[in-house]
Formats: sequence, C-alpha cells, structure tokens
Amino acid sequence: MKGSYQFEKLESRHAEATLLAERALMRMEGFLPLLERHGLPSSGSVLDLGCGHGIRAEKIAAQFPSLRVVGLDRSAELLEQARVHERENLRFELGDLYSLPFADESFDFVYARLVFMHLSDPRQALREIFRCLKPGGRVLIEDADRDCMFFEPSPPLFPAFWEKVQQGQRRLGGDPNVGRRLAPYLKEFGFADVRVESQPILGGGGDIAFLVRTLMPSLNVYLEPEDRAGGEAAIAQLGELAQDPRATFYHFWFVVSGRKS
Ligand SMILES: C[S@@+](CC[C@H](N)C(=O)[O-])C[C@H]1O[C@@H](n2cnc3c(N)ncnc32)[C@H](O)[C@@H]1O
Repeated sequence: MKGSYQFEKLESRHAEATLLAERALMRMEGFLPLLERHGLPSSGSVLDLGCGHGIRAEKIAAQFPSLRVVGLDRSAELLEQARVHERENLRFELGDLYSLPFADESFDFVYARLVFMHLSDPRQALREIFRCLKPGGRVLIEDADRDCMFFEPSPPLFPAFWEKVQQGQRRLGGDPNVGRRLAPYLKEFGFADVRVESQPILGGGGDIAFLVRTLMPSLNVYLEPEDRAGGEAAIAQLGELAQDPRATFYHFWFVVSGRKS
C-alpha cells in the first residue's frame, strides 16, 4: 500500500520512534480542550486513527474514564509500545485506515492526527470513518500543510529543500498540503457542521531547534540520494538560525471536524 509514512521501512526507525513520541507530546496542554471544543462526548466510544505509540489515546482514556477508547495503527512495532498503556477503557488494534476492522456505526468520535497527509487515498479513509461513526458522531482531523511554515530571517537554502521534501512526499503517495483540503473533503462526504481552526506555533529559536531535532531527520526519506547533502546543508542552516536571537518561526496546522448527520 502506498503512503508517505511507512515506519517499518525506515532504517532509523528506533530513533524515529523516540522522536515521534516527542512530537506526539507537543502542545499536549491544549489537546483535551481542543477535543472538547470539537464535540468530544462525555461517554461512549472514541477511535484514534494512526495512533502511533498511543500517547494521545492514553491521555483521552485517562482523563475520561467513562469513554471507551480504541487506538488503531498499521505499525505492529509502534502498537507494541502503545499496548503498555492498555487499561480497562483503552485498547489498541492493528489495522488499516482503508479497511477499518469495526462494525458500522460503532464510534461516537473519531480522531486522526498527522496521518491524513500520509494517505494516498484519503477518500477511502473518510468512507471508512463515515461508515464507523454513529449518526450524530463527529470526526476531528488535525494535520499540517507544509506550505504554512515561515522563518524570518529566511534561511536561503530552505525554500528549495522544502520544495524537494514536498515533491518526495507526493512521490510516495502522500499529500504535504492536505491541511487545506480537509474541510472540502468533509463537505464532499456530507459531514455537517464542519468546523475549522488553526493550530499556530508563533515562536522563535527554541521552536526552530525542536523542529530541527525532532522532525527534520524523518524527512530524509523524501529526498533523492543526490539531494541529501543539500538537505543536510539546509537543515544545518536552520540549526544556525535557531541560535539567532532575532529568529522568528510561524507554523500553522489545520484542525477540522464535522458531524455525521
Ligand atoms: C506521523 S505518525 C502520527 C502518529 C500520531 N497520530 C501522532 O500524532 O503522534 C502517522 C501514523 O499513522 C500510521 N499510519 C499511516 N498510514 C496508515 C494507514 N493506512 N492505516 C493505519 N495507520 C497508518 C503510521 O504507522 C503512524 O503511526
């Protein structure tokens, strides 16, 4: 199956597992309020799709004991780590978003963070989400659009490097610009009450350093071998910018939810 995040195929997957966990913890303080703003019910069942290590599924289950939470991912290795968190109201399942192993109308709320940008067939995933949601249930998708990232002062090597990263992600079947397409997708599938908000990072050197350390190594897979040295130079330049007291970083993600009517 095509897709631009294939954990099992990563040579450096042990390092990536650690960094993925760090990225999952990012802005955790706003996570539960975000879910509540988008209609997380106080009881019923919640599905976290592409849950990775299950860090966010665990957070929901711990905070809301009256919810039954299921995390699903296609990576057996990541799920092994997720299963450490299993408890009475939390379990993890191996499976694919394109063919969810659940009965029709079995969930009240479906959450998917940073997985749609890696899907070659987001419509099939949405078809499955729609099928598994109960009438009145909501889906909440959180994802990036790689064009929504700005540095000031602008590091000269970044634009060409970033374009190559996006091209590489498309080659593997992902969509680096999925963020802007989430609301249209939900409308296309007949979701009602589509709500959109952005997750902004308005930061400086520390945020750039976090990005360089936790995200940039995982983007190497998108570069052709002949572009990797250029990629390293661009990342080194970002590392220098992170030390600059004037450095400013803006990054916006999309958060989109809709109700199955
Ligand atoms: C970038 S990680 C995000 C993990 C987690 N949601 C987070 O925010 O930290 C993408 C996750 O989606 C999973 N994934 C990608 N394509 C999938 C598919 N077709 N079905 C199920 N899981 C998938 C990957 O294995 C990986 O764990």
